[in-house]
Amino acid sequence: MKLSNRIQSMQESPVRKLVPIATRVKKEGKKIYHLNIGQPDIETPKEFMNAINNYDSRVIKYSFSQGEPTLINAIREYFVRDDIHFNENEILITNGGSEALTFSTIAICDPGDEILVPEPFYTNYSGFTGGVNVSIKPITTKAEDGFHLPSKDDIVKLITPKTKAILFSNPGNPTGTIFRLDELKMIAEIAIEHDLYIISDEVYRGFAFDGLKGISMGSLKEVSDRVIIIESVSKRYSACGARIGAIASKNSELMKNILKLCQARLCVATLEQIGAAELYKLTDTYTESIKIEYQARRDIVYKTLVKIPGVVCEKPTGAFYVVAKLPVKNAEEFIIWMLEEFEEDGESIMMAPAEGFYSTKGLGIDEVRIAYVLNTKDMERAMYLLRKGLEKYNS
Ligand SMILES: Cc1ncc(COP(=O)(O)O)c(C=O)c1O
Repeated sequence: MKLSNRIQSMQESPVRKLVPIATRVKKEGKKIYHLNIGQPDIETPKEFMNAINNYDSRVIKYSFSQGEPTLINAIREYFVRDDIHFNENEILITNGGSEALTFSTIAICDPGDEILVPEPFYTNYSGFTGGVNVSIKPITTKAEDGFHLPSKDDIVKLITPKTKAILFSNPGNPTGTIFRLDELKMIAEIAIEHDLYIISDEVYRGFAFDGLKGISMGSLKEVSDRVIIIESVSKRYSACGARIGAIASKNSELMKNILKLCQARLCVATLEQIGAAELYKLTDTYTESIKIEYQARRDIVYKTLVKIPGVVCEKPTGAFYVVAKLPVKNAEEFIIWMLEEFEEDGESIMMAPAEGFYSTKGLGIDEVRIAYVLNTKDMERAMYLLRKGLEKYNS
């Protein structure tokens, strides 16, 4: 029986495709430090489970399609800290940021439409868009420029009558780059001039280092009717398995229509919403402490990378990733070699090949993405193993 062309043309997750190799070598007894996936090791705040344990109901009922009011209000309050004000109809709760991205794409694009995305980009953007026959037009950014945006002209020339939106993650996965205010203003200008939506994926908001403050697109008033903010508890509150995200937008027509998709899937898990509401109520002291921890990890990664001859990478300022060009021809081959051939005291590392984060063929072949999601001691060890591995591989 035939499968759809759509599903067959979807790429396998580049982050997960090497997992079977890692599983095999681990079974053979090797210890692998996982730098390949954005799964934080930080404990989920206890407030999440406490709220669920205290939930007093004999029946776990469907929640509202829009989401639990207590969670919606907690998210609204969270935005107020940055002087961004949403009313209760301007937030929709989703199954993670993933569903928020899928719903937003379905709501604003028809099959054959295009979305501009700075590349390298979070690889599942291809899945969310390709699954509904929407294509990504990459805005190529480079390691040498710290993955900041190119000029306005370079972006504008990619726009066609089929372009419906600009989508980006800020802070960036996989780049760790935080867009400056002037870059966000440039995006806003382009969106106004070419009548585009702006899908601002802010699931890493709060992870901003060196005194920087990640700016929410929600604070640019001139585009408030075009901005769709993607939210999630996965990273900020280390609750990836809770599957709680949200769409925030001041465009009432858009929200009214996305609500139809929310109704079609009935609701998001009731208990997890109750837990997630408490996460959004955590004070800035919590986010500050997490930030300090990730900044220390970032420093370990960067300090090692800059000392390795032939490595190109700018210091990342946000999220918990870095993309680095390595002195190898093919990063995927090197990653596999690290898994299968290399070890020191029975230990090695796993990274993600960056090629899959680009949609332009031929880019990223010699690059890796490192997720610094391990404690500082393990990060020191993992980066030591990377340095040793590269020395051996190139000797
Ligand atoms: C940039 C970005 N957006 C969205 C997501 C999806 O997150 P969620 O777990 O909320 O579905 C991720 C997950 O890694 C991500 O990195």
